[in-house]
Amino acid sequence: MSDHHLAAAAAQVEAVLQGRGRSPMVRSFFDEPTNTASHVVYDPETLYAAVIDSVLDYDAASGRTSYESAQAIVDFVREHGLTVQWQLETHAHADHLSAAPWLQEQLGGELAIGAEITVVQDVFGKIFNAGTRFARDGSQFDRLFRDGDRFKTGNIEAIVLHVPGHTPADMAFVIGDVAFIGDTLFMPDYGTARADFPGGDARQLFRSIRRLLSLPRETRIFLCHDYKAPERDYYAWETSVGAERDANLHVHEGVSEEEFVKMRTERDATLSLPKLIMPSVQVNMRGGQLPEAEDNGVRYIKIPINRL
Ligand SMILES: [Fe+2]
Repeated sequence: MSDHHLAAAAAQVEAVLQGRGRSPMVRSFFDEPTNTASHVVYDPETLYAAVIDSVLDYDAASGRTSYESAQAIVDFVREHGLTVQWQLETHAHADHLSAAPWLQEQLGGELAIGAEITVVQDVFGKIFNAGTRFARDGSQFDRLFRDGDRFKTGNIEAIVLHVPGHTPADMAFVIGDVAFIGDTLFMPDYGTARADFPGGDARQLFRSIRRLLSLPRETRIFLCHDYKAPERDYYAWETSVGAERDANLHVHEGVSEEEFVKMRTERDATLSLPKLIMPSVQVNMRGGQLPEAEDNGVRYIKIPINRL
């Protein structure tokens, strides 16, 4: 089943590359505090657009949210006269808060994520003791995608691929000849996403990455994060399937599943948790909504002690 969807994604990319389809335009926005790349992808003909992995600014020390990053997206969309059809999340992020609900108020668009978000809601709903009023059925989103689902950005065909491993719910969006791959691969000189969060799995991640790398070599890929690299002092978030196949530090051609799993597991054991994991997960499992206000009208972020 998955292979069938991958073949469809590959065929879609091939059709675009051979001039029978359309290439979307992409404008990316990089948030240095969380190392996150958000993307606005649009059909240059119809000016219909999707926003992918937006960021809500959050200052952990003061507990204050703000909208500078999201406002930059609003400004770009308005300046270019785009109509937003989708607010897409590649997964429930653990390192930044999503601005999708706020952007939806400003710009519209259906909020969508992978259907396995319900697994993530179940796991973190328990960890954060979110109570019975926290629905764990994905109902905070307008659409839950499954592997192989199709959608459109304007007249550009898109297909969704389930690429679990970093989290159970990770999705890649192949829109025309461009793939937005979330937390799977990073730049070739940096490697791959961690697989040690609750529900993560290094073996699954390797298989998901192999799927992505079987797309045509010319496929442009846009990442969710960049952290620079020992030999690179600038941020980068765009690469290609070919470049990743040839040179990805962790998964270039020739690396076996066993080698990858060993490397990934050992490396993950040395990583500390993302600074914003506590607020991020509590907000993102709710589709980017802040936790419900308590009886004094104030919303709170919880920190479970000795749990993560
Ligand atoms: Fe992530």
